[in-house]
Amino acid sequence: MRVACVQFAPVFGNLDANTEIIVNHIDQIDADVIVFPELATSGYFHLGHDEVTRIAEPLAGPTTQRVIDAATRSGKVVVCGFAERDGEMMYNAALIAGKGIAQPRVYRKTHLFYKETLGFTPGNSGFFTVYIEHLDCTIGTMICYDWRFPESARALALQGADLIVCPSNLVTHIWRMAMPVRAFENKVYLAVANRTGAEHNAGEDVAFNGQSAIYGYNGSVLADAPAEGDAIVIAELHPEQTRDKAFNSINDIFKDRREDMY
Ligand code: ACM
Repeated sequence: MRVACVQFAPVFGNLDANTEIIVNHIDQIDADVIVFPELATSGYFHLGHDEVTRIAEPLAGPTTQRVIDAATRSGKVVVCGFAERDGEMMYNAALIAGKGIAQPRVYRKTHLFYKETLGFTPGNSGFFTVYIEHLDCTIGTMICYDWRFPESARALALQGADLIVCPSNLVTHIWRMAMPVRAFENKVYLAVANRTGAEHNAGEDVAFNGQSAIYGYNGSVLADAPAEGDAIVIAELHPEQTRDKAFNSINDIFKDRREDMY
């Protein structure tokens, strides 16, 4: 199976323009699973409840439904970050939709980063996986700063994830050291779709550092993108190869866990 990460710079606050870009990519990219960045439909640095309310919509909202429809129509699995509104609650979320997924799912970011805390509610979906039968692949989702907590990827791996996808708007650089370790320590594939560009709000600049990457289950880089500019990275995965967690005839990285000692 082929997985793709799309790297681009969403237009701040322009849901229509961003959705157009996303839908075109879904139609055109030759991959089974396509991952877009965090808050790809809206841009990132929306501060506080009122600003986030303006860009948030329900899972089946006007722009998110276009993404879901494109995924279904094209016969692909799509994971795409968006700002979700559920009543008065706003979540930094990712939709998981398309072929093999009866009902679109939504993951709500567990660990909010920096000023996201001013406008978003900490996610309550918990970490979950989705089995895609025609790909024989179990996919788990985390969002950006979730990487900083090894528990995120571990929770997904313990639920059988072969592939962890990570829509991102990364602003620090240390993730490039840690992310391959998340793949290696869980023996899973990991696809990081990171955005580029910069945003300015309330006198503050934030810059995003691209370098979207797909890691193999031994932590190797299978495909990666430059730090700047639009890019699509694609890798061929073999999900079944992640499932044997033994690394010699005696040790198994999951069976050897001593949960009673942690
Ligand atoms: C981040 O979680 N967007 C750094």
